[in-house]
Amino acid sequence: MKNIYQELLLSLSISLIILAILQPCVSAAVSDTRTRVKGSYIRRRQLLQDHDNHVDPTFLFPNLQLKNAYVALQAWKHVILYDPYNFTSNWIGPNVCNYTRVFCAVAPYNSNLTVVAGIDINHGGIVGYLPEELGLLADLTLLHVNSNRFWGTVPLTFDQLKLLHELDLSNNILSGKFPNVILRLASLKYLDIRYNEFEGPVPKELFDLPLDALFINNNRFQHDIPDNIGNSPVSVMVLANNHFHGCLPTGISNMSSTLNELILMNNNLSSCIPMEMGHLNNLTVFDISYNKLKGHIPEFFGQLKHLQQLNLAHNMLVGSIPESICHLQHLKNFTFAYNYFIEESPICLDLKAFDDSKNCIPEVYTSITISLPSNIIATNSSISRSYIFTTTTTPSTTFIKSLFTTTLFITTTMSSVFTSTAHPITTIAAFQFFTSTTFKFSTSTDS
Ligand SMILES: *[C@@H]1O[C@H](CO)[C@@H](O)[C@H](O)[C@H]1NC(C)=O
Ligand SMILES: *[C@@H]1O[C@H](CO)[C@@H](O)[C@H](O)[C@H]1NC(C)=O
Ligand SMILES: *[C@@H]1O[C@H](CO)[C@@H](O)[C@H](O)[C@H]1NC(C)=O
Ligand SMILES: *[C@@H]1O[C@H](CO)[C@@H](O)[C@H](O)[C@H]1NC(C)=O
Ligand SMILES: *[C@@H]1O[C@H](CO)[C@@H](O)[C@H](O)[C@H]1NC(C)=O
Ligand SMILES: *[C@@H]1O[C@H](CO)[C@@H](O)[C@H](O)[C@H]1NC(C)=O
Ligand SMILES: *[C@@H]1O[C@H](CO)[C@@H](O)[C@H](O)[C@H]1NC(C)=O
Ligand SMILES: *[C@@H]1O[C@H](CO)[C@@H](O)[C@H](O)[C@H]1NC(C)=O
Repeated sequence: MKNIYQELLLSLSISLIILAILQPCVSAAVSDTRTRVKGSYIRRRQLLQDHDNHVDPTFLFPNLQLKNAYVALQAWKHVILYDPYNFTSNWIGPNVCNYTRVFCAVAPYNSNLTVVAGIDINHGGIVGYLPEELGLLADLTLLHVNSNRFWGTVPLTFDQLKLLHELDLSNNILSGKFPNVILRLASLKYLDIRYNEFEGPVPKELFDLPLDALFINNNRFQHDIPDNIGNSPVSVMVLANNHFHGCLPTGISNMSSTLNELILMNNNLSSCIPMEMGHLNNLTVFDISYNKLKGHIPEFFGQLKHLQQLNLAHNMLVGSIPESICHLQHLKNFTFAYNYFIEESPICLDLKAFDDSKNCIPEVYTSITISLPSNIIATNSSISRSYIFTTTTTPSTTFIKSLFTTTLFITTTMSSVFTSTAHPITTIAAFQFFTSTTFKFSTSTDS
């Protein structure tokens, strides 16, 4: 195969000669020329292909698009060193639409044209790299190559993939700086480059793309998270397991109407949790565990009405857990182990999954003596009734949890008390804060 770089160099030198003739000030124009040369490079190759020795002259292609796809797929096959599941073994001959895991469709811009619209070689275990010729697959809307062993970089010719909607390069061994060519994919909605070896900073422009989902976790990205992060309209953003440091930008609040899941775990973020996070009304999952966050949890977390999972574990947070968080209706899993919190509300103990271990919350009390009123099981008619339980020592959180969950009657009743804001929940909540030896609760057993 003719070396594509030789061609590039050849055309570059021709352009330079022409420039040298036309312009006295060559050097200033050189980099500009290079850019133009690159831009016209693919188009020229397409013309050259009519004379390309590698396309068997007896092969008939329904259109130029499929011929280009043939050239691209053959070039790719050529640089595949190992294909354990034989995904590419039938990539032979002109009928590219019959190749395994290559999908053709009618071109969106011309219903008379069949073109290669998708390639999905996920979980192929294929060893190789992504050749420049992949830029010839100009009609591709979907490219899924996850869980292979592609190494090297993302070719600059990817900027020809103007229709590409989904790009999944995850779980390969691609490396180098963030592949900036991705920023020029005008149709891109779904970007997944997680589990690779990309490094360095993440460009600001990434957050200006009109994406739906962004996965860049498990790389070696560094530096700050760009402060325009809030411009991103994604519903899912995963930046976990990188080396981001610095602040969690306050601009994050600009994602309030779109963001559902934000996963930032295992970085080196060291700011306070911005108060602005309280604006992320649609947030359902927030995980910022294994960072170096400082300060208090803002009370505003209690406004995140859709929150289901909250993981703040392994940070350096202090103060008390705002009780409003534990009142959130959809919250199922709240983990804040390994911090320096000193207080939590017993309300939190009612959550389905909850981890408060390794904090500075005083260790409590394992035994308690309660004299239950004898009529406690009987009642279902009274509107409200208060019981005073006298204890010899302050009850432990574990005990209270078991008290609420082991006896059916009490479970039912207590849940309703817990969710009723009108009721004197605060009495329950308070007893742990003031280590009194007496606590009291009310039952409201009418519906
Ligand atoms: C792939 O093809 C080779 C040669 O035809 C064969 O030996 C091997 O078993 C095939 N592998 C799979 C996973 O089908
Ligand atoms: C694709 O393969 C099928 C059978 O696998 C065959 O019938 C059909 O003719 C092939 N199409 C082309 C265009 O070669
Ligand atoms: C498709 O082909 C038909 C018949 O050859 C032609 O009339 C029509 O204009 C073509 N459509 C496009 C979008 O090229
Ligand atoms: C965080 O920073 C420390 C010290 O600079 C470094 O040792 C550690 O590997 C970093 N962790 C991550 C996840 O980047
Ligand atoms: C949020 O968006 C508004 C409007 O687009 C913009 O003016 C503002 O600077 C953004 N805030 C941050 C912190 O990025
Ligand atoms: C939340 O998401 C829904 C759609 O899922 C959307 O209609 C709404 O505007 C979003 N924002 C808020 C603040 O609820
Ligand atoms: C709760 O979240 C933690 C941290 O993400 C996780 O390890 C744990 O398995 C979850 N528990 C349940 C019951 O989902
Ligand atoms: C308690 O009262 C509710 C509503 O008044 C009623 O539906 C329910 O059956 C009663 N339960 C018992 C055990 O009497």
